[in-house]
Amino acid sequence: MSRAQRVVVTGANGQVGLDLIDTLAGVRPPGASATFEPDGRLVDSREFEVLALSHHELDITDDESVRRSFTNVRPDVVVNLAAYTAVDRAESDESNCFAVNASATGFLSQACQSVGAHFITISTDYVFDGEKGAGYVEDDATGPLNVYGRTKLAGEELCAPDDTIVRTSWVMGVRGRNVLHVIASRAAQNERVRFVNDQRGTATFAADLARAIVTMIRDRPGGRWHVANVGDATWYDIARYTGDLLEQGPDFVTAISTNELDPAPPAARPARSDLLIDKWCGAGWEPLPGWHDGVERLLAARAEL
Ligand SMILES: NC(=O)c1ccc[n+]([C@@H]2O[C@H](COP(=O)([O-])OP(=O)(O)OC[C@H]3O[C@@H](n4cnc5c(N)ncnc54)[C@H](OP(=O)(O)O)[C@@H]3O)[C@@H](O)[C@H]2O)c1
Repeated sequence: MSRAQRVVVTGANGQVGLDLIDTLAGVRPPGASATFEPDGRLVDSREFEVLALSHHELDITDDESVRRSFTNVRPDVVVNLAAYTAVDRAESDESNCFAVNASATGFLSQACQSVGAHFITISTDYVFDGEKGAGYVEDDATGPLNVYGRTKLAGEELCAPDDTIVRTSWVMGVRGRNVLHVIASRAAQNERVRFVNDQRGTATFAADLARAIVTMIRDRPGGRWHVANVGDATWYDIARYTGDLLEQGPDFVTAISTNELDPAPPAARPARSDLLIDKWCGAGWEPLPGWHDGVERLLAARAEL
């Protein structure tokens, strides 16, 4: 049997990180699809040797620690999930956001090259301005509207041509802080919710994204790839479907427009930034499940926590 691939994961305690670490160990994370194996291969517990590094264990902005760690470990693949993800806070904290999402990503890429490791990093639909009026493909023109999107795009641009950049959107994990948990908690307290019906995107379930990343670790395709669950929706659509599953009445969710949000969020967001996964499917990989299926799985897993 060939030797295990040695994989370093940064930001391993985030919502995608927790699901990726399970998946690499051959364990289905909570809420994972029982059937989604995009490259048709189960993950064997001996396939990967994983070093999962939380923020506490490796600060990716500390170039010297990154270099020392990679020189000691000699990874085959590095998956960077560490990121400054507080989109609204970033508007008043640009230099720290840039340091993590841009400068550190560039340095990780260089450090990977120096030890011969393949580098995979995660980017976002917020690199787009949302003006296209249809779903986005990998070669579409970018035009971020907020600091977070600009720093993630700068991080992409600091990567080497052979690196793999996975753009994803509206990520929701069973173990992360995200909108579905907010909706479910409000429903449990018999409270109503208001969600915008003028921001359209693609929800991505962390367990499905984690399994897709395993495919990227195996294949090392290089270049930019869009990875999201199938089907676009507004936040209102997602809240409405979640409310229906939780047996809430028709008044549970009120649709509002972005300019009705009070207070107005500091960061502008694209009106329509859904990601198309045609390139992913064209590579022969199974499409990610539809978003309704993801909501159902997340709620079922949440109920069992
Ligand atoms: N969440 C979304 O909706 C979304 C959408 C599109 C793309 N993405 C991208 O997907 C990737 C994974 O996101 P996620 O949802 O898993 O985010 P997350 O839950 O916020 O996890 C990010 C992790 O990065 C860590 N981190 C922050 N600064 C760091 C640093 N300097 N060094 C090392 N670790 C650091 C955080 O640790 P602390 O919490 O301890 O700081 C956290 O564990 C990110 O690249 C993100 O930009 C996310």
